[in-house]
Amino acid sequence: MKRYVIVGASFRCYTMFVENLLDYYPEHGEITGIYDLNKTRCEVFKKRVGEGLTIYDDFENMLDLEKPDAVIVTTTDAFHHEYIIRALNKGYDVITEKPITNTYEKCLAIREAEKKSGKKVTVTFNCRFMPAFVGIKEIVASGKIGKILSINYEYFLNRWHGGDYFKRWHRLMENSGGMLVHKSTHHFDVMNWILEDEPVKVSALGNRVFYGDQSKSFATRCKDCPKQSDCQSYKSQTVELDNELYFGAEHEDGYIRDKCCYLPDTNIYDNMSVSVLYKGGAILTYSLNLFSLRGEGSKIVITGEKGVIVYEGVSPSDNPDHTPCFKVFTDEGKFETYPLPVLKGRHGGADPVLVGMLFAGENPEDKLGQCADSFAGIVSALIGISANESIANGVQIDLAERIDKIR
Ligand SMILES: NC(=O)c1ccc[n+]([C@@H]2O[C@H](COP(=O)([O-])OP(=O)(O)OC[C@H]3O[C@@H](n4cnc5c(N)ncnc54)[C@H](O)[C@@H]3O)[C@@H](O)[C@H]2O)c1
Repeated sequence: MKRYVIVGASFRCYTMFVENLLDYYPEHGEITGIYDLNKTRCEVFKKRVGEGLTIYDDFENMLDLEKPDAVIVTTTDAFHHEYIIRALNKGYDVITEKPITNTYEKCLAIREAEKKSGKKVTVTFNCRFMPAFVGIKEIVASGKIGKILSINYEYFLNRWHGGDYFKRWHRLMENSGGMLVHKSTHHFDVMNWILEDEPVKVSALGNRVFYGDQSKSFATRCKDCPKQSDCQSYKSQTVELDNELYFGAEHEDGYIRDKCCYLPDTNIYDNMSVSVLYKGGAILTYSLNLFSLRGEGSKIVITGEKGVIVYEGVSPSDNPDHTPCFKVFTDEGKFETYPLPVLKGRHGGADPVLVGMLFAGENPEDKLGQCADSFAGIVSALIGISANESIANGVQIDLAERIDKIR
């Protein structure tokens, strides 16, 4: 039985690592130690996991006493690097949530520490385990559509989910790197992975056109808002885990989970478009919209020399009749449909599969290369970091030199 410790008693940590380990792989791994600045949140984990979980006041002390097989990093994004580096320096492998980090300087520091330590950082990119991306990856790898020349990737979130990022720490660039880092690291990674290529140039546009508008704000938080029933972004207090982790713990650090998403003291964008040129010549045209009214999902068109893949995915709650599939066109107007399996579990069933691979040794050959290393984590984050720079300074960013420095 392998032993793991956690830094960051987050909602994501509980639902991804703790729950999936307990539900699917209890005989393979256990979480034995937890550290977070907020002790109330650690207590929530302990209450649910049991006496086998020890709460620590000090991160290094936890490593010294637990001597884990790996350290799981699930704090807010801006602190990932700190714990990744401290764990590596103490000689431990690290499993970190995305984005690996949110600035280029932190990327460099992580790679340097990893190289020095001889230990390994794995980034949990669950998108690589979603049936649609697995299917698309297999088709591209089979050569059916030939060399990829162009990709259009549109991603949209509804106002409940999109607004959620304006309610808490994500709403500040310094915490999350904005959505082009926090969210799009998934999308850029999956494209890098499918293409098996590296980005060389990035340019972007971004602004905030929907959230952060004081005229739409009627209270500082959802709990106290007189317009709850009219608001498409209203955060209720009906989820038990939310209540315990957030509302029941805010007295300790003032972390308000349901801040009004229309308060103007935010500095991230809700409306973004990015162009990425790859070494092999392909161009990715990507957009991210956080205030959609057609549910949430994505549309992806991958055009190769010999064929085109078209995927339209919507959240099942937005369209229960939607049959998940993608189409492959290999001749004008003619296409084959590839149905996709419907898996159980969060994020389209990707989370349990990823946990099975990381913690239970399932799929050890990893023929598709689904387990992402720090390099992949950094390259995908770097596209977002550079896109932010491009937006701020109105310039195109050259990535080749930056990527060479982290190789
Ligand atoms: N892969 C996915 O699908 C997915 C989905 C959601 C979140 N995530 C990632 O998971 C992580 C957690 O997200 P969440 O929304 O569940 O977070 P959260 O807000 O629920 O919790 C963050 C925790 O980090 C702790 N923390 C903050 N600074 C710290 C520090 N310096 N030292 C120790 N602890 C600190 C906070 O006290 C809090 O308990 C993030 O990195 C996020 O990007 C990934």
